[in-house]
Amino acid sequence: MFKFNFNTEEVSKDISVPTEEKWVNSKQISPNSLLINQFLNHKHIEFITIEFKDVSIRYIKPKTMLEVLKDANLKSEILQADTNHSDLITGVYEGGLKVWECTYDLAHFICDNQMDFKEKKVLDLGCGMGIIGILTLLHGASVDFQDYNSDVINYITTLNMYLNTELSKEMREKCRFFSGDWSYFCENLSNDPNNVKYDCIFTSETIYNTDNYVKLINVFNRCLKNDGVIYLAAKSYYFGVGGGLQQFEDVLINDGNWEIKTVFKLTEGVTRSILQINRRCLQNK
Ligand SMILES: C[S@@+](CC[C@H](N)C(=O)[O-])C[C@H]1O[C@@H](n2cnc3c(N)ncnc32)[C@H](O)[C@@H]1O
Repeated sequence: MFKFNFNTEEVSKDISVPTEEKWVNSKQISPNSLLINQFLNHKHIEFITIEFKDVSIRYIKPKTMLEVLKDANLKSEILQADTNHSDLITGVYEGGLKVWECTYDLAHFICDNQMDFKEKKVLDLGCGMGIIGILTLLHGASVDFQDYNSDVINYITTLNMYLNTELSKEMREKCRFFSGDWSYFCENLSNDPNNVKYDCIFTSETIYNTDNYVKLINVFNRCLKNDGVIYLAAKSYYFGVGGGLQQFEDVLINDGNWEIKTVFKLTEGVTRSILQINRRCLQNK
């Protein structure tokens, strides 16, 4: 059985890999404020606060969210994964009901470097709980949140965004939400009359599956501004699933468009790093 190295309050579970994979199309999702308020006021819901240098972020406690979903009689792939004792079910549920370890690295990196996002357009790619997107929102950004699962966006990411922007309609209006596979995400964006490109793309713990590398790099190629920057946080190796930083860097180098710099590294246990990725200048190609 596959296992992720994961040691926060949520216990690591097995990863199921079905033989047939179906990748879901991309769509933009509008937050359902009625549903969000119902969930936020649910008797079972509890929250966790993470303190950073200059800001704290609240998010829903995963176990209590499962209770809320069960109580509401919702049929969701999030519950399916929980019943299967799975962290991930490839192409069905991609792990959004958790804050994964590298998110903490990335969030501390953002705060320690006092990154300013005023007037910046940020993409939290593979956002799950949306901690990084929320952090940049609180530091001035306009944020697009993207997750594979529409249920994660509908029940979790939007809810966390509401929780952290309680009285600010203006902040909420700076957020957009997308679900679906990365291979369709850019097409979805190119239908946008504003044809958005990002100043900054953050992506944490999204390179465990080597099958997705080309899709992910296509998003970088198509959605990043020429002078934009990507911060990718990941483990050196994902046990059982085969992906890892070295494999991803090899594919990125092979793509030929990128300059890569390691800006953070933690070597206790499974090594975790943050890569800063910029477009290569034409003269360097
Ligand atoms: C392990 S979770 C990490 C969540 C979050 N970034 C964190 O660090 O806590 C991986 C995330 O990548 C997204 N993801 C994985 N494969 C994807 C794909 N093929 N298309 C779109 N999103 C994908 C999932 O939706 C999921 O939220």
